[in-house]
Amino acid sequence: MRILKLPVEIDDKIVLEYLGYKDSAKAPFDVLGRVEKCIKKSLDIIESRVCYDKLKFDVDLAARRLIFPNGEFFSGDYVVKKLAKADYLILAVATIGKQIERLSTECFSKGHVLDALIFDCIGNVALDSLMAAFWSALTLDAKRRGFGVTNFISPGQNVWDIREQAVIFKLIDPLSIGVRLNESLMMSPEKSLAVVCGVGKKIKTAGETISCDECGMENCSYKKKNGQARQVKIYVYFGNEKKQILARQGENLFEILTKNNLNIPGSCGGKHTCGKCKVKIKTKNQLSIMEEERHFLNEHDIKNHIRLACFCDVNSDMAVFVPQTNPAKILVKSEGIRKDSFCFNPRIKRANIATEPPSIDDQRDDLTKLKHVLGAKHLKVPVKVLKELPEVMRKSDFDISGVIRGNELLSMSNSHGSDMYGVAVDIGTTTLVAYLVDMATGQQKGVYSCLNPQRIYGADVISRINHTIEADGGLERLNNLMIKEINAIIEYFCNEYNMAREHIYEMTFVGNTTMIHLLLGVSCKGIASAPYNPAFLKSFEIKAKELGIKINPEGYIITLPLISGFIGGDTIGCILASRMYADDKISLLFDIGTNGEMVIGNKQNMLACSTAAGPALEGANITFGTGGIEGAIDSVDFGEDVLYTTINDADPIGICGSGVIDIIAQLLRYGIIDNTGKFKSKQELENINHLIRERLIDFNGIKAFLIDEKSGICFTQRDIREVQLAKAAIYAGIKILTDEMGVSFDEINKVFLAGGFGNYINVKNAAAIGLIPRELQNKVIPIGNGAGIGAINTLISHEELKATQLIKDKIEYIELSTTPSFEKIFINSMSFNYCL
Ligand code: FES
Repeated sequence: MRILKLPVEIDDKIVLEYLGYKDSAKAPFDVLGRVEKCIKKSLDIIESRVCYDKLKFDVDLAARRLIFPNGEFFSGDYVVKKLAKADYLILAVATIGKQIERLSTECFSKGHVLDALIFDCIGNVALDSLMAAFWSALTLDAKRRGFGVTNFISPGQNVWDIREQAVIFKLIDPLSIGVRLNESLMMSPEKSLAVVCGVGKKIKTAGETISCDECGMENCSYKKKNGQARQVKIYVYFGNEKKQILARQGENLFEILTKNNLNIPGSCGGKHTCGKCKVKIKTKNQLSIMEEERHFLNEHDIKNHIRLACFCDVNSDMAVFVPQTNPAKILVKSEGIRKDSFCFNPRIKRANIATEPPSIDDQRDDLTKLKHVLGAKHLKVPVKVLKELPEVMRKSDFDISGVIRGNELLSMSNSHGSDMYGVAVDIGTTTLVAYLVDMATGQQKGVYSCLNPQRIYGADVISRINHTIEADGGLERLNNLMIKEINAIIEYFCNEYNMAREHIYEMTFVGNTTMIHLLLGVSCKGIASAPYNPAFLKSFEIKAKELGIKINPEGYIITLPLISGFIGGDTIGCILASRMYADDKISLLFDIGTNGEMVIGNKQNMLACSTAAGPALEGANITFGTGGIEGAIDSVDFGEDVLYTTINDADPIGICGSGVIDIIAQLLRYGIIDNTGKFKSKQELENINHLIRERLIDFNGIKAFLIDEKSGICFTQRDIREVQLAKAAIYAGIKILTDEMGVSFDEINKVFLAGGFGNYINVKNAAAIGLIPRELQNKVIPIGNGAGIGAINTLISHEELKATQLIKDKIEYIELSTTPSFEKIFINSMSFNYCL
């Protein structure tokens, strides 16, 4: 049996509702004053406790009983119907202690009837709040394990015999929290409650703790209207904008914000594990902080009302300040790329088509004449374009301008100067980068980068796939989020460059296999577990309108071919950009992203593998980690003291990947951590500069190194372990590829380093921590966002698109999890000694 001490919140409006003031604004002034005073007094004396146990049971349908292992049972149709499907039951007794009851009785005896009533109502509100906190803790824990939870039911509720309260008291030990049940089945303290709920895989989590519809107390002033919880207002501030959202009491803040398309940071999808969903909350009744949440917050956060949205259930009106995540800093330059290695030959072309006007001698129809001039007997003309044909031809005096793709006429106009654009998109698990390209010249006109909106449902591909498996409508939700973001990017380009979306005729997409499945709205379930089978690997070419992407209605989207469940078109894009597939000499390419993809080879053959490096090197899974956004600490150096830089010189908000690598390298150089990655004690570091030594701190019970005093940003022991896992996975991948290829590090001619922060990392530091083999550090050529460059190349050159299929055919995929030597190399590579 377990005992929990949970925080309670007492909202004055709810106390007033209990008192009978349905509209709290109309309560008399003196009542408001008394309520406020009584709440203040109550908060110090409430002793909220829950004792509970998790029990297995058997169902006897004939006897309509749920039978526990010791022979005790619950009976009746109501309990069987509510709980039989559960895998186990939670039996609980909750109490707020006896002090409120004592105060209420004292007030009555002194004739202070109003105060007595107020204290009584406060007791009810506190008990409700305690039950809500307990239910929220249960549902979150169950959700994490893929279980659902029913709402609480109690003996005496509906037609459940109240005498079965005694069964609960026999099966758990409420005396341990000071609650007794007397012979008349009354609990002492009075403000206590005995409840049961079912937890199981086949159960859908209920929308509220207790269902008012099933409660017999018809006149309860707190009864929810039409089964709906009370409405609360949330004022959300983001940047210079403000939005008002109406929500229901008890709803989770993280879910409310994401449902309303407010992008808050968060990489675990609200599962309480990443600590990234920080928001500032202002509410009249400050929300208390749960122990689990406290681990992610430092003193600065707590003082500044920063909370993790996924830990907060809304109970009253509140203001929420969402931090601005400015577009990520993505490398768009490409020093390592040769630009003269392919010809500009887009599929989209503009043709001027001048036909003879109709005459008695030439009575051919418009379309025939058009085909004749173009020399395209089999020209495809969509109905929409056909409808416009007669008018456009005549308006232009039979001298039109058409946009043609292959043998299809995509649009026509009577002006010869109309624009013609394409967009290349790299869908990363963390970041999206889109390039606007002028299809007449092949020149890049604009670039836009933003965080992947799906990331709130998990930082890595497996969490996203799990969301599509576990959540109702999960696949549609992730697909919609992506399409919506792509349409927003298109709108951004149109506004920024003063162009019409109809002038965008083609888009190319690269991304890992999961991202491309989610883009097309295709189930990616098979990728999550062995044998990691995706639904498709082929390249697709479809009309953009089929996906709801708003470019020219006849425009196309193309996705590049995929290699395996974990190596996608983004890797093909990088290979294309590096030209390694056309080189005689052996090259190594690795893309450090949320996953680490690696390729080795030359024009003869290539081997590829993917490591579950995790998102640590992109700042996720790191206590104060962040993406490459404004304010991210991107380089760190220890001299006399810690020196760091941030993106755009903004105030520090967290540490991004390149900063993470620098910190570990410096901790190693100064001997602050040993070769197993463990922090040394201050005594062991007596010889180093005291300014550095004093930065060794305790962060919520974990050893940590303070990077910035003002914001409290630090790097913890747990963070070092995350990076060790990531770098060991990448190193092991590189080693296995070279072994399989039968080459030594010396025989590798070039090392192409791709990835959003590839150009920003300090290669020497990356080699010092063992992310890159030291023997290769002088051969490194950062190519920036190689995947994005590959997407641009395929947009502006049909030959480049064809080359992607050749690359796919040339690559052999190696599954590391089935490679015998992987585990050994991985474990050896965890230590820093191995690499220094
Ligand atoms: S901890 Fe809230 S989203 Fe991860």
